[in-house]
Amino acid sequence: MTLLILGGTGTLGRQIVRKALENGFQVRCIVRNKRAANFLKEWGAELVYGDLTLPETLPLSFQGVTAIIDASTTKSEDNTELINVDWYGKLIVIELAKYTQIKRFIFLSILNSEKYPYITLMQMKYRVEKLIKNSGIPFTIFKYAGFFQALINQYAIPILEQKPILITVESPTIAYIDTQDAAFFCIKSLSIKETQNKTLATGSSQAWKSEEIIELCEKLSGQKAKTQLISIFLLKVLRQITGFFDWSLKISDRLAFIEVINNTQNFTSSIQYTYSILDINPKEVLELDFYFREYFEMMLNTLENLTAGQIKKTKTSLI
Ligand SMILES: NC(=O)c1ccc[n+]([C@@H]2O[C@H](COP(=O)([O-])OP(=O)(O)OC[C@H]3O[C@@H](n4cnc5c(N)ncnc54)[C@H](OP(=O)(O)O)[C@@H]3O)[C@@H](O)[C@H]2O)c1
Repeated sequence: MTLLILGGTGTLGRQIVRKALENGFQVRCIVRNKRAANFLKEWGAELVYGDLTLPETLPLSFQGVTAIIDASTTKSEDNTELINVDWYGKLIVIELAKYTQIKRFIFLSILNSEKYPYITLMQMKYRVEKLIKNSGIPFTIFKYAGFFQALINQYAIPILEQKPILITVESPTIAYIDTQDAAFFCIKSLSIKETQNKTLATGSSQAWKSEEIIELCEKLSGQKAKTQLISIFLLKVLRQITGFFDWSLKISDRLAFIEVINNTQNFTSSIQYTYSILDINPKEVLELDFYFREYFEMMLNTLENLTAGQIKKTKTSLI
């Protein structure tokens, strides 16, 4: 079975490629830069050049494909680029999937995408979800609140570097997920018929508040965080003000995102449904405290070795 993966070089995409290869799939990846994606080839994947903004580069890679996992998205600050990749690019991919009679289309989306049409990325995600559902292609859509990996930049690094962290006063509890587990869920869904034509909320079973994550990082790093509190109300006001100006659209989007992840009350029960349909034991899913413990141990060891090396170097130069 040949699996076509879009976004295989990305944070989640590379874990999907690895898991798919481990599970014996033939994996073909559409990549923009073959040299940068060479690690995927070394793992055993086939690389085909393709760019979602260049439709003519896409059809060739669909030959002989049984299923598609689309983990691509743009992080571009430019709205036109976002629409080109996350909307027009996807239109072509869905048309090609229809034409080549793909047996399963796995699309990765964001939690609550349907509720925020004024955020461009959310609107694009929701539109693509609708398009796939109406396409007649057998599909599975996974929706995430966020990945553990993103929390490193958000909390761990600022704490280690003694930089300020902005959190909202009305802190929600959010179930993040490790990308290795998210990848496992995707690959497993391919062999479970009941996941066909389903939209599945995905996270680890324990949800965390921002304060709890900060407390955990402080404990593991031995450093005190410089936390700054802001209310969601103030963020909304700021969004309304900044939303008037084109140049600040991205600021507006970012603020709205904070509101999105602050609206995840029913998420936990949906996650239980995902575990049951995929027959996954929640105890086997990595929890955030374990992930952070490993991260800080590794970082603190590296820093200790660097400092020891520096002292040795200074002593030698003094002799
Ligand atoms: N990160 C999160 O916390 C989060 C939360 C909720 C949902 N999600 C969703 O999960 C999925 C994976 O997210 P991620 O964080 O792993 O993404 P990511 O690290 O930003 O990776 C994006 C991938 O898309 C590829 N890509 C970008 N523009 C392209 C183009 N024009 N043509 C072809 N490929 C292109 C990139 O390739 P290059 O290497 O060439 O740039 C990269 O492989 C996405 O659908 C995202 O919306 C993520």
